[in-house]
Amino acid sequence: MDSRFDDLQEDILEDNLEIYSKTAVDHFMNPRNLGEMEDYDGFARSTGPCGDSISIWIKVKDNIISEISFTTDGCGPSISSASMVTALAKGKTIEEARKIGQWDVLNALEGLPEEKEHCSLLAATSLMKAMEDFSASKN
Ligand code: FES
Repeated sequence: MDSRFDDLQEDILEDNLEIYSKTAVDHFMNPRNLGEMEDYDGFARSTGPCGDSISIWIKVKDNIISEISFTTDGCGPSISSASMVTALAKGKTIEEARKIGQWDVLNALEGLPEEKEHCSLLAATSLMKAMEDFSASKN
């Protein structure tokens, strides 16, 4: 993640931050729910066409996503997107969280540059697959 951090630092230094919303920058600088989870109920790692991956772990209690975490080897916006999707899903029932899609992540981040919108799809897909893994392991 260090080189990605350097990329964003470069953007800051080059004064390119105006292309990202304050919310997107905040979720990059202070990612919510970052890290691997050892004791989990659902897990998925999805890789996008760009070659980057987002991993998501969920812990489910009484049908509610009580804990969630992520890691990524992707770009800055993938960190913002994964952080946001975990923040959106935490505390939701599985049924509610299934409705979280790419556009919910994008809207919550107040948008991403067009060429980075796919990072939010990768985050939403990883969440969906982690929930599928949970459902499959239950049955
Ligand atoms: Fe690959 Fe952002 S460029 S996830």
